[in-house]
Amino acid sequence: MTTPNAHSEDESIVEQSQTPHWRIEDLAFSTIDVAAVRSDENLFYLATCASFVESGSDLYTQNLIAYYGDDPEISDWLTHHWEVEELQHGNALRAYVAHVWPEFEWQIAYNDFLEEYSRYCKVELLEPSKALEMVARCVVETGTATFYQALARSSTEPVMRNLATRIANDEVNHYKHFFRYFRRLRQKEGLSRRHIFGALSRRTLEMKTEDSACALRHVLKFRDPKHAGDPVRLKEISAMMNTTVRVNLRADMTIKMMMRPLDLPPVLQTIVAYPVTQIMNKVFLR
Ligand SMILES: [Fe+2]
Ligand SMILES: [Fe+2]
Repeated sequence: MTTPNAHSEDESIVEQSQTPHWRIEDLAFSTIDVAAVRSDENLFYLATCASFVESGSDLYTQNLIAYYGDDPEISDWLTHHWEVEELQHGNALRAYVAHVWPEFEWQIAYNDFLEEYSRYCKVELLEPSKALEMVARCVVETGTATFYQALARSSTEPVMRNLATRIANDEVNHYKHFFRYFRRLRQKEGLSRRHIFGALSRRTLEMKTEDSACALRHVLKFRDPKHAGDPVRLKEISAMMNTTVRVNLRADMTIKMMMRPLDLPPVLQTIVAYPVTQIMNKVFLR
C-alpha cells in the first residue's frame, strides 16, 4: 500500500493524542434496556471474553515497554497512552457486563482466568527486531479493530454500539502509532518485504491463539457451571461468537490494514491480497 499522505497522517496522529480521551462515565449505562439485553447470551460472551483479554493487557505490556526502553518516544507512548487505553477497554466492558448481568461474578471468574492466562502470557515471544515487532503489533491492532467494529455493527443495543465504536477507534489509533514507528524503524534496519511478510504471516497465524478460547473456558465455568469444560457447549458458543464477527467484519478494511506495512506497488497489492485473504480466513472465518 502506498502512503502518499504520510505527513498529514502523522499530524492527525498528533492531533488525536492531544484530544482528551473518552471516559467510562461518558457511557449512558442508565439508558440500557436491561430487560431486553439480558437474554442476549451471544453479547454476554462477546463482551465478557473481550473484557478478560483486555484487562489482562498489563501482563505483557511490560515486556514490550522494556523492548523499546532505549526509545523514549515509543516507550512513553506505550506507557502513558497505549497501556492505559487497553486497560480502560477492559474496565468499560466489565462495567457494561456488571450493569446488564450483575449476577455474574466477574472478579472471581477473572481471577480464575488470570491464573491460567498468566502462565503463557509471560513468555510471549517478541519478534527478532524492533521494526518487525511493530509489524506484529499492527497485526494485533488490526485484529482488535476488526473485532470491535464487527461488534459495533452487530449490536442493536445503542450503548454497546457506542462503546464498541469508541474502542474500535482507539484500536485504529493504536495501529496508526505502531505503523508510524514501524516506518521509522524500518529505515534503520533496512528490512526487505520478505522479512515483513514473514512477520505478518507469523503473527496472523498466531492470532487465533489461546486468548479468546482461554477467556471463554473461564467465562463459561462461572456463567454455566454445569457445562464447565464441556467441549460441545464451548464449540457452540465460540461458533456463535465467530459468526457474529464473520458476518459483520469489514474485510476490505482489515486486508488494507494488514497489508499496509508491505508498502507494495498497486500491481503487487492485487497479487498479495490473495494469500493475505487466505491467512485472514484462517483467523476470522472459522
Ligand atoms: Fe483494546
Ligand atoms: Fe489496541
